[in-house]
Amino acid sequence: MAAAYRIGAAAEAVNLPDLPPYCPRRFQALVGHPMPGVEVRWVLARLDGTPAGWLRLELPQLDNTENASVELVVDPAYRRRGVGRALHEHGLRLLREAGRKRVVGAAVSALPGGPARDPAGDAFAAALGAHPALAAVRRRLDTTALDPAALDALAAGARIAAAGYRTVRWRQATPEEYVADVAYLEGRLMADAPTGDLEWEQENVDTDRIRGIERALDARGIRRYHVGAVHQATGRLAAWTMVSLAANSTWHAWQQITIVDPEHRGHRLGLLTKIDNLEQALAYEPDLRAIDTYNAAENVHMIRINEQLGFRASDASVEWQLTI
Ligand SMILES: CC(C)(COP(=O)(O)OP(=O)(O)OC[C@H]1O[C@@H](n2cnc3c(N)ncnc32)[C@H](O)[C@@H]1OP(=O)(O)O)[C@@H](O)C(=O)NCCC(=O)NCCS
Repeated sequence: MAAAYRIGAAAEAVNLPDLPPYCPRRFQALVGHPMPGVEVRWVLARLDGTPAGWLRLELPQLDNTENASVELVVDPAYRRRGVGRALHEHGLRLLREAGRKRVVGAAVSALPGGPARDPAGDAFAAALGAHPALAAVRRRLDTTALDPAALDALAAGARIAAAGYRTVRWRQATPEEYVADVAYLEGRLMADAPTGDLEWEQENVDTDRIRGIERALDARGIRRYHVGAVHQATGRLAAWTMVSLAANSTWHAWQQITIVDPEHRGHRLGLLTKIDNLEQALAYEPDLRAIDTYNAAENVHMIRINEQLGFRASDASVEWQLTI
């Protein structure tokens, strides 16, 4: 465990140097407390006896039962010696035994004109015959440069468009009254967000699974801030957004899911919930300086909202898919 953690930390410091250090509590919980509905396999590779890399396979059990996702990491000190390829081949054997037909893994890369990024991940995936199925861009919001007057004006415009809806805030676990709606919205994400050529089915999410995900996030020590938009006529949640911080970070957060139910689009609920949640997160996290978010490069609506808020592109991430 300690060796795998060190490898992950060293690789991430090279791959994404502007992130907080690799979180040890999260890593321990990845092993000890996997997400519900997912079977996980870990493989550690040794080179002449020294731990040099690892592989983590996730095999969904409740949906996507022919798919798997992979994280494959080699210690920067031991690269280009075949460790990655050996792990990959071992992983393929495990996936074939489990009857999986496709595997997906992400690799970071530089954007034209953006900060340099190690090209190894893309080169490796291409060398293995994987297909670049979905391109995503990471954008960062510098919260120290926010213009409160401009945000207030955006929020005021959104509130007019969102007549008939009210926002609700919560932290950590979702209140019982909204958990079924959160399950519905979370389950829609793979169907609603652009997924390029990825062959990934809509996920089967119910309230038990949401509670299980919350326990897994608690085990990782992840702090979560949520805002929902309630449709006043029905009392149902029409939109939901979440921001999270790792246990070992006070200055950096991730903008996670934002989703508006298709029946309630066009009322600026995405913008409204995001602005409200930004205020909530900043109120509880006074050291917060940077919020990162990933969007599919083709997700023009979400990107437009993010750019209005001040998010700016930093680097790219490609989801590579391999048919086994
Ligand atoms: C990608 C990664 C796993 C490769 O590990 P590795 O042990 O160096 O890989 P291998 O030595 O087995 O390389 C296999 C092939 O990938 C390609 N490759 C790997 N790194 C490369 C690089 N920096 N530039 C060009 N090609 C590269 C080559 O074709 C190589 O074969 P070759 O050495 O015979 O030319 C490693 O760089 C890493 O951990 N990166 C960060 C995490 C990541 O991006 N993971 C992959 C996405 S799931």
